[in-house]
Amino acid sequence: MPINIDENIHKSVLAAEVVEVLKLQAAEIFVDATLGLGGHAQAILENSDETQILGIDQDAQAIEIAEQRLKKFGDRIRIFHRNFSDIKAVLLTAGVEKVDGVIADLGVSSLQFDSAERGFSFRFDAPLDMRMNADSDAETAAELLANLSEFEIARIIYEYGEERKSRRIASRIVWKRKQGEPIETTKQLADLVEKAIGRGKKDKTHPATRTFQALRIAVNGELEILERFVRDSVDILKKGGRLAVITFHSLEDRIVKQTFQNLAGKCSCPPRLPQCVCGASKEIEILTRKPIVAGAAELAENPRSRSAKLRACLKIN
Ligand SMILES: C[S@@+](CC[C@H](N)C(=O)[O-])C[C@H]1O[C@@H](n2cnc3c(N)ncnc32)[C@H](O)[C@@H]1O
Ligand SMILES: [Zn+2]
Repeated sequence: MPINIDENIHKSVLAAEVVEVLKLQAAEIFVDATLGLGGHAQAILENSDETQILGIDQDAQAIEIAEQRLKKFGDRIRIFHRNFSDIKAVLLTAGVEKVDGVIADLGVSSLQFDSAERGFSFRFDAPLDMRMNADSDAETAAELLANLSEFEIARIIYEYGEERKSRRIASRIVWKRKQGEPIETTKQLADLVEKAIGRGKKDKTHPATRTFQALRIAVNGELEILERFVRDSVDILKKGGRLAVITFHSLEDRIVKQTFQNLAGKCSCPPRLPQCVCGASKEIEILTRKPIVAGAAELAENPRSRSAKLRACLKIN
């Protein structure tokens, strides 16, 4: 089906591929679990005059922009300021039982990353916040660094940032804290990481990139909610409905891949167990044996698409 992709849309990663893999039909209802600036939602709504979307985002600022952008679609788009871990509750509120498709485009939006005051990026000096939901009571990145033990800080940086030198970074953070100089801004953290682990000659990225990713994942609890979200999304699909998930780093991609495999019936029990206890039963068919990645044109135009991986599945039962 031809799709009218307007000039704003190419900032949305893999938009054409999302539309393709969701196999849009007329008069369907979708959940966009990460509405962001509404790019994917717009691509879906433009496909047919009867298509409807329930859009979710935990960022009130993003919602404001999406509302403007999608106003022309009237009540075909309903927007919820929630965490997508509440996807089932959102359906209940909307009075919708099952949907034809769910799309999630994980991680931070360019709006969040490029807003100095949100503290996601060391390109600007700002308070170290990193909460995607700025209205929540969750601890900011600065508060985590002020309150966690050295061991916990090192674990987060190692696990979520895949940073081999995590212990050196954690030890310096805690040492500073003891000197009465807690880490409170993006620049302080970026400088500290650089001092702690140095900068390799061949490094293309700033040495603090992995530490920033790790803190963002911890502050927003990104990995903890992902498996449950994939399972809940499959639960709310109609038979024949589709789920598409775009991830931006290997930790997320692994969770999506393994959850899909389990829902496709692959047992993940250790071989020594006499019988299966992981509950694998065939609920979905995986549509992407290998993840879909951006093509050359998109890569040239949008650097964010470099690490994007799209996986999709079809509900069969
Ligand atoms: C990459 S952007 C989405 C961009 C959008 N697909 C578009 O085309 O404009 C990711 C969005 O997901 C939101 N988000 C991330 N994790 C979330 C969660 N657990 N619950 C709700 N929203 C979330 C972020 O606030 C951000 O606005
Ligand atoms: Zn099993």
